[in-house]
Amino acid sequence: MNSPQRYTITAALPYTNGPIHIGHLAGVYVPGDIYARFLRATGNDVAYICGSDEHGVAISMKAKKEGITPQQVIDKYDGIIRRSFQDFGISFDNYSRTSREIHHKTASDFFLKLYNDGEFIEEVSEQLYDAEADQFLADRFVIGTCPKCGNEESYGDQCEKCGTSHNATDLINPKSAITGNVPTLKQTKHWFLPLDKHEAFLREWILKDHKSDWKTNVLGQCKSWLDDGLRPRAVTRDLDWGIPVPVEGGEGKVLYVWFDAPIGYISATKEWAEREGKNWEDYWKKEDTKLVHFIGKDNIVFHCIIFPAMLKAHGDYILPDNVPANEFLNLEGNKLSTSKNWAVWLHEYLEDFPGQQDVLRYTLTANAPENKDNDFTWKDFQAKNNNELVAIFGNFINRVVVLTNKYYNGQVPPAGDFSEVDEDAVEQLKQFPGIIAKSIERYRFREASQELMNLARLGNKYLADEEPWKVIKQDEERVKTIMNVALQIATALSVLSEPFLPFTSAKLKSMLNVDENLSWEDVAEKEVLLPVNHQIGKAELLFAKIEDKEIEAQLAKLEATKQANEAANKIVEPQKETIDFEDFTKMDIRVGTILEAEKVAKAKKLLQLKVDVGIDVRTIVSGIAESFKPEDIIGQQVTVLCNLAPRKIRGVESQGMILMTDTPDGKLAFVEPQQPIKNGSEIS
Ligand code: 2FM
Ligand code: ZN
Repeated sequence: MNSPQRYTITAALPYTNGPIHIGHLAGVYVPGDIYARFLRATGNDVAYICGSDEHGVAISMKAKKEGITPQQVIDKYDGIIRRSFQDFGISFDNYSRTSREIHHKTASDFFLKLYNDGEFIEEVSEQLYDAEADQFLADRFVIGTCPKCGNEESYGDQCEKCGTSHNATDLINPKSAITGNVPTLKQTKHWFLPLDKHEAFLREWILKDHKSDWKTNVLGQCKSWLDDGLRPRAVTRDLDWGIPVPVEGGEGKVLYVWFDAPIGYISATKEWAEREGKNWEDYWKKEDTKLVHFIGKDNIVFHCIIFPAMLKAHGDYILPDNVPANEFLNLEGNKLSTSKNWAVWLHEYLEDFPGQQDVLRYTLTANAPENKDNDFTWKDFQAKNNNELVAIFGNFINRVVVLTNKYYNGQVPPAGDFSEVDEDAVEQLKQFPGIIAKSIERYRFREASQELMNLARLGNKYLADEEPWKVIKQDEERVKTIMNVALQIATALSVLSEPFLPFTSAKLKSMLNVDENLSWEDVAEKEVLLPVNHQIGKAELLFAKIEDKEIEAQLAKLEATKQANEAANKIVEPQKETIDFEDFTKMDIRVGTILEAEKVAKAKKLLQLKVDVGIDVRTIVSGIAESFKPEDIIGQQVTVLCNLAPRKIRGVESQGMILMTDTPDGKLAFVEPQQPIKNGSEIS
């Protein structure tokens, strides 16, 4: 393990326009948390920083949709998201909000510094404008075809399909997301960060300095943007929700959300440092601090190109040491989607699986989308729980604690001479802190979680091979040694599982009554982790089997979502050609009453009617004879198309048409007023 070090670890600030789901947890917050917990446990100075991203069009759109204010939107979701992070044991040192004053000031000052240093280009240009909404169309307010990959639903600033970041005016066939109108162009002034000016530096910094330690998916995206050539990016917007542009001419404009959000990491660190009596500048300005950004792949350009260019232009800050971005997690074969409700929401998961946070943390880590998109399936979730957490980890711990209580009243027995098997088990045990650390330090959390499970496997196999429950009948001394070794492995598990399974680790430590100060280093170096005669507690189950019916219930929930989405998306095609309103108004439809009715000779289907339509009494031939007897419909109110050109039917001139519809049993029914209406009343 390396010597202690100062770390600033950031996790992407979630937009407060909805709750968070398993994709967020798997891609960003759990890996960030494992990293932060591991570094703390190994003696490093860590600030794990996050907060709510409360500006930008995502929030304004949600407010418009729900008919509430942006402030109400952010207050609601900040509360829900904050709660989910707490519930899942995400150990942020500070979770702030970009709507706080400290952030507005930090972001404004940052902008002003770049402005005063001449780091911006000020330019009047033509931007997309929705005349009906009386609004410029920035970012998510405009949707169109991505010029790079052809995705027809790209946002104005970014295509979520290919990850390209572009200007709204680059979109092909742009459409307003507010009204659906095709936007016009209107002149407006903005401030641009000339990314082209920083291109050479960025190329050198990323592709030369980090070629070997950054993930290939991250380097690949960076290389592609650099090869395409960087262009100036507007960092201000004509919007009414955000941080006001703090310079002359900036009235009515706000900072681009992607300008202010990453500065949120700095403001959140300041807030934390003030509270904890620390110096925030140590975490952002000292060259020996390691800055690591945990993000999803759609955020790579902002953290590897734009934010570093901002930090460099400012001049006082360190740049990220690494940006271990993950790919995306899918759910049962389909892309996770907030708008389609295709997600496992964290607050809902906890209602269905109370107290089982670690099961989800483990499953998401063991199956993390580290190098490619991955699929979360409920079957796999069940298998990881039942076959690994319950059958290996839980089973081993349960045997150790139950047998120690049974044979020794819960006191650690003394070990006698070690056999080769014992030596080997203890030797292997000591390797685990280093093995797991190595994987975590290389951001390979899947691999690290499997190594942790291998430690539990080691314990499980040791007990299964040594069979103390059989040996006790012949050799009580030998069993003392076996149980002593098994208890050392269990103790190691309680320490090394903490970054991955914090709730389980706490429960296990309390069950074994483990010394709080026992460290990763101790596990690697100490001969004895639990001393002889140390008293442990009673066995409690760490994990419970998940039954098929629980999984079926989750799958049924998803199926219901799928069907609801299909029903909502079903477009009922118009059966006839569309007509203009003018065409409709040409029809003279009135309420009338049938005065007389008789059969038409030799025509099975026809009745000849006399109908009072208010303006006159007229003859109408109608094809309703199979549904009604003439005598039953005298006095029936009907709706009549009065200005249909007269035509002869079986020798009788019909002067209009009665409007009818079908009943489910295949008969005809009159379209009649709900209450008696004066004959001649118009229908429009
Ligand atoms: O993609 C998102 O959800 C953004 N809100 C992430 C912001 S990360 C940062 F820069 F603050
Ligand atoms: Zn694209």
